[in-house]
Amino acid sequence: METLFFKDTEKDIETAGKIIAKGGLVAFPTETVYGLGANALDGDAVGKVYAAKGRPSDNPMIVHIAKKADLKALCTEVTEDMEKLMEEFWPGPLTMVTKRKEIVPLVTTGGLNTVAVRMPSDTTALALIEKSGCPIAAPSANLSGRPSPTTAQHVVDDLEGRIDGIIFGANCQVGIESTVLDVTTETPVILRPGIITKEQLEKALGKTVEVDKALLHRPDKFNNEGEGLLQDLGADFKPKAPGMKYKHYAPKAEMIIFEGTDELVEKAISEMKTEREAKGEKVGIILYHSDESVTAARNFFAKLRAYDKDGVDVILAAALKEDGVGFSVMNRMVKSAGYNIVKLK
Ligand code: TXA
Ligand code: MG
Repeated sequence: METLFFKDTEKDIETAGKIIAKGGLVAFPTETVYGLGANALDGDAVGKVYAAKGRPSDNPMIVHIAKKADLKALCTEVTEDMEKLMEEFWPGPLTMVTKRKEIVPLVTTGGLNTVAVRMPSDTTALALIEKSGCPIAAPSANLSGRPSPTTAQHVVDDLEGRIDGIIFGANCQVGIESTVLDVTTETPVILRPGIITKEQLEKALGKTVEVDKALLHRPDKFNNEGEGLLQDLGADFKPKAPGMKYKHYAPKAEMIIFEGTDELVEKAISEMKTEREAKGEKVGIILYHSDESVTAARNFFAKLRAYDKDGVDVILAAALKEDGVGFSVMNRMVKSAGYNIVKLK
């Protein structure tokens, strides 16, 4: 299939919107990462997204809307909590998991009775949703398992020839995917951490927010299907966000994370760099200090992809302190490294 390249002009966005309205697939920028969009209410169109990405069909999609008022068409109730969150964080990188209305096909929700909804702030994304005249289901526009795309070129690298079009918009400023919050329960639960933190959510809601325990779990290794081993959380444990169980964000290179004081980490990284280079290996380094977590979020996926392009053999990364945005970056980093973490003492 020929993939059309669009600029982020009104005319091109209109053409792209028509493709989505007719059941096609178009990748587009958002403030978090690039998304691969399809008409969320058209099960056949959404089915094509799973195929193009090679995505497991039990992994539900986020439905993107251009107006807060469009939320009520998709979910059975808009609670007081949801009103507060929309007021504070929309448009922006917060996704709310709500109770699904029947108009949303089960393919879109991976068979679940809930639907994840967000209103992005990127103006190209908003224009595309408006022009297409429908809510847009969009996972990150990468091949399943690869790092999320934060530039249009990343999308070209993964999906050219597999989708109808790509809109070349701005590079993504947030750099990691939206915070996913389950608001179907009295105490909301963070299913995926993002740039909007637990503390910010609690402040806006005036109550406690929980973190899904799958996010705190560090399996020793992955099984052959690429699923993290979650058995030690109990035989029946199922992560609430199905996407959390899959191997994710993996660079082609081996990746090792070093955890400890700045001094110990920097020393260990420099020693291993010398050691590996002596063996003729190409080494990449990802080193941010804990006060640079927002920058780390913005650049992390792009660095993984750049190192892959350079043919790097091993990526040595410094762990961030796991609070605020640091917790969200670490959520991606440990998965990229397949939980390969060296603790320094
Ligand atoms: O920032 C973002 O959220 C980007 C941009 C394109 O908006 N999208 C994105 O989509 O990251 P995706 O498909 O890569 O990740 C969606 C996550 C997955 O972990 C999925 O399991 C979870 O949200 N999710 C979606 N619907 C859900 C639902 N009904 N219940 C629980 N988790 C859900
Ligand atoms: Mg994704």
